[in-house]
Amino acid sequence: MIDDLRSYIEYLSKKGRLVNVRAPVDLELEVTAFTDIAGKSNRYESKSLLFHNVKGYDIPIITNLFGSTSTLNELFKAPYINELLSGIKSQHFNLIEGAKTMLSAKPKIVKSNLGNYTRQESLSALPILKVWPNDAGRFITLPMVITRSPNDGSLNVGIYRMQVYDETTTGMHWQAQKGGAIHSQEALEKKKTLDVSVAIGSDPYNIVSAVAPLPHGMNEFVFSGIARGSSTILMENGKYPPVPANSEIIINGYVDPSEKRMEGPFGDHTGYYSIPEECDVFHVENVYLKKKPIYVASVVGYPWHEDAVIGKFLLEYMKPLITMVNESIIDIFLPPEGAFTNLCFISIKKRFPGEAKKAMFSVLGLGQLSFTKMIIAVDDDIDIRDQSSGMWALSTRVDPERDIQIIKNTATDTLDHVSNVSAFGSKVMIDATRKGKAEGYNREWPQTISMPDDILKEVDKKWKSLNH
Ligand SMILES: Cc1cc2nc3c(=O)[nH]c(=O)nc-3n(C[C@H](O)[C@H](O)[C@H](O)COP(=O)(O)O)c2cc1C
Repeated sequence: MIDDLRSYIEYLSKKGRLVNVRAPVDLELEVTAFTDIAGKSNRYESKSLLFHNVKGYDIPIITNLFGSTSTLNELFKAPYINELLSGIKSQHFNLIEGAKTMLSAKPKIVKSNLGNYTRQESLSALPILKVWPNDAGRFITLPMVITRSPNDGSLNVGIYRMQVYDETTTGMHWQAQKGGAIHSQEALEKKKTLDVSVAIGSDPYNIVSAVAPLPHGMNEFVFSGIARGSSTILMENGKYPPVPANSEIIINGYVDPSEKRMEGPFGDHTGYYSIPEECDVFHVENVYLKKKPIYVASVVGYPWHEDAVIGKFLLEYMKPLITMVNESIIDIFLPPEGAFTNLCFISIKKRFPGEAKKAMFSVLGLGQLSFTKMIIAVDDDIDIRDQSSGMWALSTRVDPERDIQIIKNTATDTLDHVSNVSAFGSKVMIDATRKGKAEGYNREWPQTISMPDDILKEVDKKWKSLNH
């Protein structure tokens, strides 16, 4: 049973998906270089790296925890929404399964176990990486940042990088549209500070759920309970938001939303260093370390890294929701080279004129998918995961004047350094579907070339019998 970070590491080890690095390593750049090699060597199926001997520190580091798509597929239970939808369609509900899911969705809050942790007052014991050569400093890269809404008390969990300014002060890089930033804004309006808990190292369900692009207000620990099939166990944490009871490291502190400080550059998901910008500041008040803790870090940059694996997995996992909201969409794919917000392909089975645009508009308005900068719609005969197939559709189904729309002056992702102004720029929609008469195409759309199945089968047999 995987109920914490250690049992997850054991699972990876048993599956042959863990590399133990026992040679001494430097946390400045060297851990990144190792992790980079692992990610690039096997794209969606790379191994995790456990660094046992980090120069100057007693705490081991694990990176690339989620480099393997197979692992995520093995662990995460199918979303309940799948079952609900098929129940609605077949009018046959599995009430027992449904009830079990609903029970597992509710987090369980237990009394604090912090007495079993060692308390420190600064970050000095933590092996925090300097990831890339021109980073502004050292960054905590896979923290689960937990905040409580000052308005309604709801919890939010997100992964937001934290630049270490000194041993008790860090940046808090929650982008303006993210849950933590919304709570910070609410605190600003109330002229209050915001208590923040940061948990590093937990079971895979909690960490991956912190990345999941859930609607604001939906508790990520509900999602992790559903994915695990049993309730997430949170422990009380004094005046700070509760934390997963299986956390390796817990950092408590506060953000004063009126205080800002420059953050970055940081080697980002895009493959570029981020442009330094002002962000919130986090003040550390307590650091709690489990006995022999393991520190978790993530490395991102030009693909491939685990962010590509997590992003692809979550998109697949949540696809039933996306296709429920917009029934035109058959498939959706975000190529990792687009850092998940710059480039999006969808495929549709067009039933009426203009349906491709309808489908693209809905993506541009949907949660974190609305950060998409370039969206391309293709027909359902195109495999959007196959670059060659996508390029063929783009090249042979687009008349630029008719099929490309530029949308100016709209909200964009702060990650994208291309727009003239941060988080404000343009988007493009490309309709690469076949066009009909009602869409202004006055010729007969040509047939695509293909060979009948019976001929193919026959020739396949003959081909195999050839001596070559
Ligand atoms: C390795 C990694 C690092 C991330 N760093 C940030 C970050 O610094 N700032 C940010 O806003 N989102 C970052 N994200 C994405 C958020 O975690 C993600 O958008 C999540 O859904 C945010 O949760 P929220 O909607 O509850 O705010 C990162 C994701 C990963 C996988």
